[in-house]
Amino acid sequence: MRLTILGGGGFRVPLVYQALLDDHGKGRVTHVVLHDLDPARIEAIRRVLAEQAMGVPDAPEVSVTTDLDEAVTGAQFVFSAVRVGGLEGRVVDERVALEEGVVGQETVGAGGIAYGLRTLPVALDLARRIAALAPEAWVINFTNPAGLVTEAMSAYLGDRVIGICDSPVGLGRRVAGALGVDPATVWLDYAGLNHLGWLRGVRVDGHDLLPGLLRDDGALTSFEEGRLFGAEWLRTIGCIPNEYLHYYYFTREAVAAARAASRTRGALLIEQQSRFYSHTGGSALSAWDSTRLERETTYMAENREAAGAGDRTSRDLESGGYEQVALALMRAIALDERATLILNVRGRGAIDGLGPDAVVEVPCFVDANGARPLSVDPLPGHALGLVASVKAVEQAVIEAAETGSRAAALRAFATHPLVDSVGVARRLLEHYERELPQLGYLRGRSQKTDAR
Ligand code: G6P
Ligand code: MN
Repeated sequence: MRLTILGGGGFRVPLVYQALLDDHGKGRVTHVVLHDLDPARIEAIRRVLAEQAMGVPDAPEVSVTTDLDEAVTGAQFVFSAVRVGGLEGRVVDERVALEEGVVGQETVGAGGIAYGLRTLPVALDLARRIAALAPEAWVINFTNPAGLVTEAMSAYLGDRVIGICDSPVGLGRRVAGALGVDPATVWLDYAGLNHLGWLRGVRVDGHDLLPGLLRDDGALTSFEEGRLFGAEWLRTIGCIPNEYLHYYYFTREAVAAARAASRTRGALLIEQQSRFYSHTGGSALSAWDSTRLERETTYMAENREAAGAGDRTSRDLESGGYEQVALALMRAIALDERATLILNVRGRGAIDGLGPDAVVEVPCFVDANGARPLSVDPLPGHALGLVASVKAVEQAVIEAAETGSRAAALRAFATHPLVDSVGVARRLLEHYERELPQLGYLRGRSQKTDAR
């Protein structure tokens, strides 16, 4: 079986390749095509993969190309993991928002909107190209902001595009660990949007173990989300939010911590990764692995600091999220191996009040026919309110990208729950347009908007 990875020079590609190397089962991937616009990045990653494959007799063959049509023609599965504007673009997303005093994060709030506006024209092109050249292919979308990008691509690919994220499964694994149960045996009652979901129940043999966990301070503070939100807040809402909800529940603290930091997350990653991508001589694999570890230990460091949550433990750091979800999804479809996975798919009413084509993040039943959302319990009002607001923002971003409407882009910024004034939204949009050439497609700027 052939797998194409768009964004094949991306830093996390070796995680995917390692998962493929560990898979010796029937129907495994035998050929990986890496597509990227930057031949130097692809070459750096290809060297890592070559070292990973050493001594593995059935290692999937790897080929590389900068030609998109060649990459997707004949592919059965396409992983889409591109970063439009690179990490430099991410720094702009983060910095401009922080300069306006709002959350500056790549997928949440104003930063997520800017990232979406920049990414969608490219993601839509990819979707159209794949629909034309490989209409039977399944597209697994890792490109952030993953929910929004998946929804936009689904206009062309229908249910053949499925978005994935490792944070729900990571949360599930950490919670199972705190409860001392096998993560493979628990039913995670999780629902929301990407980076905006809540774990409302953890069922084993028909019993919900979450109420007991919420009463147990020791167990609650033994894992990352417990420490990030604090036992009392988790008991107050009766569920465990995705870690990205920290930006919503502790907005001021998160903004203050990010503004106090000497550089943004994106700037730190540029420094870490440029060491890897410019590495010459010695083992590419060990250079990559030490950079990966640095990335993981510093993940959400400012939020943890703001919460007094301390360093990540070895359990928090356990990998196996990102690549394992992708591989499990691909195997379930390719081999018709039934599985239940938390994925980003068109909701078809799974969450009240959203249209049937709105992409949501919920447990799905997966087999050769693809992924079907399962019916989940209603979200509590406070969560449903946030989900509805953020979905409207996402749909305004999609409208802006599809029509070029600057008004839709402004509406996205101004109605986001983490942007507290229309004046701020206007300045954010102007500032992003100044710094991000990829937003040049927005039209309809009729007058100078100066909110001061
Ligand atoms: C989590 C999120 C991803 C994100 C990743 C890396 O796994 O679910 O969407 O890409 O973290 O974050 P970082 O800040 O290290 O780029
Ligand atoms: Mn994610």
